[in-house]
Formats: sequence, structure tokens, C-alpha cells
Amino acid sequence: MTGTDFIDKSRDKWNRIYRKSSENEPRPSSVLTDYRYLVPSQGRALDIACGLGGNTLYLASSGLMTTAIDLSDEGIDKLKQKATAKNLEVNAIVADVSNAYFASNEQYHQAFDVISVSNYLDRQLFTIFPDLLRPGGLLFYQTFVQDKSDVENGPSNPAFLLEANELLALTQPLVCRVFYDLGTVGDTGHGLRNQSCIIAQKGG
Ligand SMILES: C[S@@+](CC[C@H](N)C(=O)[O-])C[C@H]1O[C@@H](n2cnc3c(N)ncnc32)[C@H](O)[C@@H]1O
Repeated sequence: MTGTDFIDKSRDKWNRIYRKSSENEPRPSSVLTDYRYLVPSQGRALDIACGLGGNTLYLASSGLMTTAIDLSDEGIDKLKQKATAKNLEVNAIVADVSNAYFASNEQYHQAFDVISVSNYLDRQLFTIFPDLLRPGGLLFYQTFVQDKSDVENGPSNPAFLLEANELLALTQPLVCRVFYDLGTVGDTGHGLRNQSCIIAQKGG
């Protein structure tokens, strides 16, 4: 399958999911809400692979001028409707996020105080985050791990699952402010399982 075929298939899949979705209140990721006191109340935010925009709407309602990008035009349409209904200004864009996309758009360079990514893993993107963040800016990343307590939760393809401690390595040279990855240690009925989270800051 070529890269374009893969992107087309992925767009079709997510469009089908969002067409059927009756989710009225897409939820923000817990790394944002649990650490809401680290989210600035002004500046610019970027939500990558935003889907229906749980993170986007949360960031915009926190006072940030928020750009949201996703491959799925149907997801982006629903997000725009939701933002309008909530009287929130959101810059919602249909695009295939990749390093080439960001590198070719000068307006993204050192532009963001916050970047959020949840339930999506593209390891290549980590090399561009330091360039997209303003000095002092924060990356909030939360996605699925290989060491899941519930194997049905999240993707099964290991390419889309983090290894133990992988977020710590991927986010270098950003400074880690918060990191957790509980794996299957202890009582798996407690704590955030199946996913790992990081909040990492650009120095300066
Ligand atoms: C599991 S959903 C996560 C949505 C949202 N971040 C959330 O946590 O609810 C994955 C999203 O990634 C988007 N996606 C997949 N590949 C993409 C790409 N190459 N560029 C932009 N978005 C992509 C899909 O369209 C889908 O909305």
C-alpha cells in the first residue's frame, strides 16, 4: 500500500466512525484536565489529530487561540459546529499531519504555547515539536502503551503502541515536567492504565 492509499483508507475509516458517532460532548484527555493548572489561560494552542475535538474545545475554552488539525473532514465539520454552538473560536483544518506539512507552513514555527496530542501516535512528529513550541511552551501527550491491562482497549498494532518509558525518550530535548506509565504494576483497578502521558516543556 502506498502512503497515499494508507492516508485515504485512514480518512475513510475515521469519517465512517465520526458519521455514526452520537458523541455530543467529546472529552478532553485526562492529562489536560488532571493538570489544568499547568494550562496557560492565554496564547496559542495546537491540537494534532484532534478528531471530534475534545482537547480543542477544552483548550479554546481555557482562553487559548486554538488550531486543530485532523485528516477527517467529517470530524472537523462536527468540531466546527460544536465550537460555533459553544461560541468558541477555533481554527479547524483538514490536513494530513506530518513533519513535511509543518515544515512547509512557516506560521507554525515557534508558534504554540501548548500542543496536545491524544490517542494518536506518530513517532516522526516528536522531532518537530521543539520547532513548533515557543520557548517555555508545553507538550501534553497521552496515548496507548504495549503493556495494557485491558488488551481490548486501544489499538492492537504495536506500531501504534508505546514501549515502556518511550515518551521520555521521544520528547528529548524537551524537559519532562510530568510523566506516568503505570503499566500493569500493582492493582490495575486504580490509576490510569493502558495509556502513558507526558507533559514536556521547551526550555528557554
Ligand atoms: C483515535 S482518534 C483520536 C482523536 C482525538 N485526539 C481524541 O483523543 O479523541 C485518531 C485521530 O487521528 C486522525 N488521524 C489519523 N492519521 C492522521 C494523519 N496522518 N493526519 C491527521 N490526522 C490523522 C484520525 O482522523 C482520528 O481523528
